[in-house]
Amino acid sequence: MTTNSKLKTWVEDWAKICQPDKIHWCDGSEEENQRLLNLMVGTGMAIKLDEKKRPNSYYFQSDPSDVARVENRTFICSAKQEDAGPTNNWMAPAEMKKILTGMFTGSMRGRTMYVIPFSMGPLGSKIAHIGVQITDSPYVVANMRIMTRMGKAVLDILGDDDFVPCLHSVGAPLEPGQKDVKWPCAPIEKKYISHFPDTNEIWSYGSGYGGNALLGKKCFALRIASVMAKRQGWLAEHMLILGITNPKGVKKYFAAAFPSACGKTNLAMLIPSIPGWKIETVGDDIAWMKFGDDGRLYAINPEAGFFGVAPFTSMETNPNAMLSCRANSIFTNTALTPDGDIWWEGIGTPVPDGSITWTNEVWDPVNCKVAAHPNARFTAPAKQCPVIDENWENPKGVPISAFLFGGRRPGTVPLVYQSFDWNHGVFLGSIVGSEVTAAAIGLKAGVRRDPFAMLPFCGYHMGDYFGHWITVGRTAAVPENLPKIFNVNWFRKGPDNKFLWPGYGDNIRVLKWIFERLEGSADVVETPIGWVPGTKAVDVSGLPDMDGKMEKILEVDPREWLIECELISEHQHMFGDRLPSEMKNEYEKLKARLLKAVLK
Ligand code: GTP
Ligand code: SPV
Ligand code: MN
Repeated sequence: MTTNSKLKTWVEDWAKICQPDKIHWCDGSEEENQRLLNLMVGTGMAIKLDEKKRPNSYYFQSDPSDVARVENRTFICSAKQEDAGPTNNWMAPAEMKKILTGMFTGSMRGRTMYVIPFSMGPLGSKIAHIGVQITDSPYVVANMRIMTRMGKAVLDILGDDDFVPCLHSVGAPLEPGQKDVKWPCAPIEKKYISHFPDTNEIWSYGSGYGGNALLGKKCFALRIASVMAKRQGWLAEHMLILGITNPKGVKKYFAAAFPSACGKTNLAMLIPSIPGWKIETVGDDIAWMKFGDDGRLYAINPEAGFFGVAPFTSMETNPNAMLSCRANSIFTNTALTPDGDIWWEGIGTPVPDGSITWTNEVWDPVNCKVAAHPNARFTAPAKQCPVIDENWENPKGVPISAFLFGGRRPGTVPLVYQSFDWNHGVFLGSIVGSEVTAAAIGLKAGVRRDPFAMLPFCGYHMGDYFGHWITVGRTAAVPENLPKIFNVNWFRKGPDNKFLWPGYGDNIRVLKWIFERLEGSADVVETPIGWVPGTKAVDVSGLPDMDGKMEKILEVDPREWLIECELISEHQHMFGDRLPSEMKNEYEKLKARLLKAVLK
């Protein structure tokens, strides 16, 4: 097992409180994995998919109340409320621990407590960190085995060092003789996804789904890590990482932050629609970045798998994602076909007769709205991605040349523009907005501000987070080696309510412009909001029906932007005196440039 006394004591103490029937230390072996999967097939929680169609892959249906992250049940329990900031729910650590200790008491009765040592990042990388998750969900164990480096090798590296303790229970103890349900969880008002940033602890109760339960992901790699990063001078971001190679063989790496379900997985694995260019994937959701000796920012993907949105992923939209989950994968809340494979809306084939929906009903086009839940997900090993980058496990990380921000903006925001400088780029990150998607439960429809795509994931005051980004720029040893900052928007719509830009593989055309911009060769026009490509600068060769469209796609209307300014001002107001003066300045400068443009 382990000689780590903190770890031993922590597990023993929680075993006493949670009262599981058994404790199992996960070694991460294939044999252990098969045993757990068979166990879940036996209890009816999992269905094994057809071995020929989808080798070594399993299908799960969650409880209908447990289908996505629960932002209103997610808490940052810093000692002081003001340190959690206006964008997080807060409760005093002692109060939260008291409530949750009560709930964890006996919460694992009738179940096994699994202990999962895991590394976020390649084993032994200086940028990586180790956590240990306790859970009573074998589904979580199977997912953590794909999403992280997990098991005995991690304990060996950990030795007697410190780790981030991650406590998790689905909150559904079994009385003697009580039959288990297919997907145990607690009702919504009893779910608590709690973070203690002052002590680097995570306590999660009541949910078995995604980011609520796979604690290495959003809880550790973003909420806790963002606080560690602020303390220690690095960055933990909700960003994909991709490698882009031009026809001459020159390669750069970009990192991009888009809100949940806004196209990170798609962009990270894009297949270029123009010849000669190549995209390779380092990560699709999270980036940890530290400065190298050369003054460049180096990024690792702390994860080892993809927990990707299934609906509308197809051989057409994202073949590399489809191929990543062709085997050894887990599917949650998709539909199940009669021949033992999975199906979802937008997979590219009609739903086979007799398919079972995510709510376990026989599909019927009249009575069923959808067959797969909109937040149905696949869990797939990253190494199965056909375009996984050769450096994806490089412990040093990959040097980042550009940051991209973006969201779903039907109006106002052009296809792409570049910030004038670092602080202006931080401002662009701070004003990211997007239409609400299905990745979280219970949000009001409409556009919401999602600064840096980190709104649900920043473990401290968002105003201080902007300040941290400003500090990173100000203190950079080699300022010219800082990544350049861009904003992109694939989602602008025309008067017919259709997307103006084809998106997906054609996004390479925007990446190409950014690449050429970094090399100093792209055509740009200065506008009040930043540098926008000239109307002929984005390569649209081979795209049908683009006549006169680029003007609209790239349009910056100062009047629309002045309305946007009102919204930005409201948004900035929320951060009170924790809004860095640099951000206020950027706002004032933007407004002045817009007024000048309107009066011209
Ligand atoms: P999380 O895993 O939730 O953090 O999200 P993600 O950013 O990885 O989301 P993902 O790539 O799975 O986004 C999925 C949604 O974005 C799907 O509905 C896609 O159809 C849509 N999408 C992705 N790229 C494009 C694009 O270029 N244009 C358009 N119009 N839609 C896109
Ligand atoms: C997201 O919602 O941004 C995700 C899925 O990547 S989850 O892991 O559930 O957070
Ligand atoms: Mn995400």
